[in-house]
Amino acid sequence: MVHVHEFHSGKKLSNSTTIKVLLLSLIIILLPVIHLFFFNSSSTPWLNFKSYFDNIREGGKCNMFRGKWIPSHQEPLYTNATCHELNDQQNCMKFGRPDREFLKWRWKPDNCELPPFDARSFLEIVRGKSLAFVGDSLGRNQMESLFCLLSSVSTPEYVFHKTNKFKSWLYRDYNFTLAAFWAPHLVKTIDADPNGPTYNRLMKLYLDKADDSWATAIETFDYVIVSAGRWFYGPQIFYENNQVIGCHECERDNIEKLSMFYGYRRVFRTTFSTLMSLEGFKGVIMLNTLSPAHFENGEWNKGGNCNRTKPFLKKVMGLDGGDLEMYLTQIDELRIAEREGRKKGVKFRLLDTTAAMLMRPDGHPNHYGHWPHENVTIADCVHWCMPGPVDTWNEFLLQMLRMYDS
Ligand SMILES: *[C@@H]1O[C@H](CO)[C@@H](O)[C@H](O)[C@H]1NC(C)=O
Ligand SMILES: *[C@@H]1O[C@H](CO)[C@@H](O)[C@H](O)[C@H]1NC(C)=O
Ligand SMILES: *[C@@H]1O[C@H](CO)[C@@H](O)[C@H](O)[C@H]1NC(C)=O
Ligand SMILES: *[C@@H]1O[C@H](CO)[C@@H](O)[C@H](O)[C@H]1NC(C)=O
Repeated sequence: MVHVHEFHSGKKLSNSTTIKVLLLSLIIILLPVIHLFFFNSSSTPWLNFKSYFDNIREGGKCNMFRGKWIPSHQEPLYTNATCHELNDQQNCMKFGRPDREFLKWRWKPDNCELPPFDARSFLEIVRGKSLAFVGDSLGRNQMESLFCLLSSVSTPEYVFHKTNKFKSWLYRDYNFTLAAFWAPHLVKTIDADPNGPTYNRLMKLYLDKADDSWATAIETFDYVIVSAGRWFYGPQIFYENNQVIGCHECERDNIEKLSMFYGYRRVFRTTFSTLMSLEGFKGVIMLNTLSPAHFENGEWNKGGNCNRTKPFLKKVMGLDGGDLEMYLTQIDELRIAEREGRKKGVKFRLLDTTAAMLMRPDGHPNHYGHWPHENVTIADCVHWCMPGPVDTWNEFLLQMLRMYDS
C-alpha cells in the first residue's frame, strides 16, 4: 500500500510505480471542467495590503503580485544537472519536453520591478534563521525551487528525521535551516478507508486539531509558509471536538452534507490560531495562495492536458468557481488572523502567487513528469516544471524578506 506522504519525498519518486501512483493521486484534484474565463479585476476583492509594498514603489503604487509576463533573455539559475533536489515529477527537460520558450519570461509588476533571485542576498537575510514550508505538494514545489536557486552558492546538509513527513536541511555556512512539513490538509487526518483507492479516498479531517507532525515542531521557526488546496476537493468527513459534524461527498446518508469550503475555512483558522498560540513562536507566517491548475482539451480525467507553450498575455485571468472560492476563503482567514496576530505580535504576510500563475498554462509538467512508456494517462497540470515560472515564487519571497524582515 502506498501512503500519500511518500509523494513528499523526492527521492522515492524515482521508481516508476510511485510515479504512476503520484499521477493517479492527481485524481484527488477532482476538478470539474476547468473554465478559464475572464472577469473584471476591479470586482475582485484583492486584499489591500498596500503598506507591504512601500519599499519597492517607484513613483506610483506597486503591488508586486499584479503585473504581466514579459520576454526575458535571462537563463534559468539552475538546470537538472546542477540541482540534485529536482525530483522527477518536475524535471520536465529530462522527460523530453521539446519546447524551451516557457523559460524565457519574467514577471513584471505593473508599477515597479521584481529583481531576479539573488542566492547570496537571500542567504545573508536568512543567516541564523529557519524557514519551513507547511502543507501540500505545491509548498514542496516551492521549497525545491528555493533549494535549486540556492544551490549555486551553498549545498546544505540533510538533517535526518524519523518521520518522512518532515524533511530539513542545514546551510552550515549561513546557519540557515530549510524545512518542509508534509500536511496537505494542515489538520489531523485519518484515512477513513485505508484499503480504498488512493485517488479518491475518504479522509477524516479533525478541523480543530492541527496536524501534530508540524504543530509540535514549528515553534522555533522564523518563517512559516503555508499552502493547501487541491486535496480539499476529495471526499471528507469533518470532525470538531472529536464529533462528526458533517461531510463532503462521503456518500453516507446519516451524515449532514457540508461544503468543502466549510472545512477549508476551518483548517486555515486552526492553522493560524495554532501558530499564534505557541508560546515561543515569534515568526512570520506567510500564506502562499492557491496555485491554479490548467486543464484544457478535456476534463482532468478525460484526456485533459496543458500543452500550451506560451503564457497568457491577458492581464487578469479568472479562477474557476471552486478555486476562486478557496482563494477568497484563505485570504479572508489570513485577514482575520492578521488582526488577531497584531495583538499578539505575530506577523502575517500574503505571498499572493495566484494571479501570476493563472497566466502560466505553459508552466506545468503536462506529460513530461515521467517517461512516455509509463502509460500514465493523466496529465500533471497542477505542479510546475523546474526550472520554470515557479521560481518566481521565490523572487517574491526574497522581496518580501527584504522589505519587512531584514
Ligand atoms: C537533464 O535534462 C536533459 C535534457 O535537457 C536530459 O537529457 C538529462 O537526462 C537530464 N538529466 C537529469 C540528471 O535529469
Ligand atoms: C544557529 O541559529 C540558531 C537559530 O536558528 C541559533 O539558536 C544558534 O545559536 C545558531 N548557531 C550558531 C553557531 O550561530
Ligand atoms: C494540444 O492537445 C490537443 C489535444 O488534446 C491537440 O489537438 C493540440 O494540437 C495540442 N497542441 C499542441 C501545441 O501540441
Ligand atoms: C496502459 O493503460 C491501459 C488503460 O489503463 C491498460 O489497458 C493497458 O494494459 C496499459 N498498458 C500497459 C503496457 O501497462
